[in-house]
Amino acid sequence: MENYSKKVMENFMKPKNMGEIKDASGVGKVGNPVCGDIMWIYIMVSKDKSGNEIVKDIKFKTLGCAAAIATSSMITELAKGKTLADAYKITKADVAKALDGLPPIKMHCSNLASDGLKAAINDYLVKQGRKPMEHTKEAGSSLRS
Ligand code: FES
Repeated sequence: MENYSKKVMENFMKPKNMGEIKDASGVGKVGNPVCGDIMWIYIMVSKDKSGNEIVKDIKFKTLGCAAAIATSSMITELAKGKTLADAYKITKADVAKALDGLPPIKMHCSNLASDGLKAAINDYLVKQGRKPMEHTKEAGSSLRS
């Protein structure tokens, strides 16, 4: 097995927020064409006291490697309670950092999590008849990296 941090192992062995949200506000499905791993991110959106839309609840289902599962778990923790705009800004680097790093060969796995969350947020916006947020690619965020 790769040289994973303790936090990666914890999130892999006991992932948080695993599962599905029935009647989710938005669903993002992303896949890595190279390894074939697939991830679904489900979000439930509601408004906070100031009227901002926030990620009230978030769950994931991931058919993938240990890093993909750990990054899914971590992104749900990072995104929960955040406004949609702030959740959208979570990068693969943020996810990797929160896990105390990932082996370089596994960095691409954290793309799935951040791309999956962005896809879920945009799915919600499009369902509302609104414009999706722009997906500015992070440097080196190619799924093939
Ligand atoms: S090896 Fe496929 S996402 Fe990690």
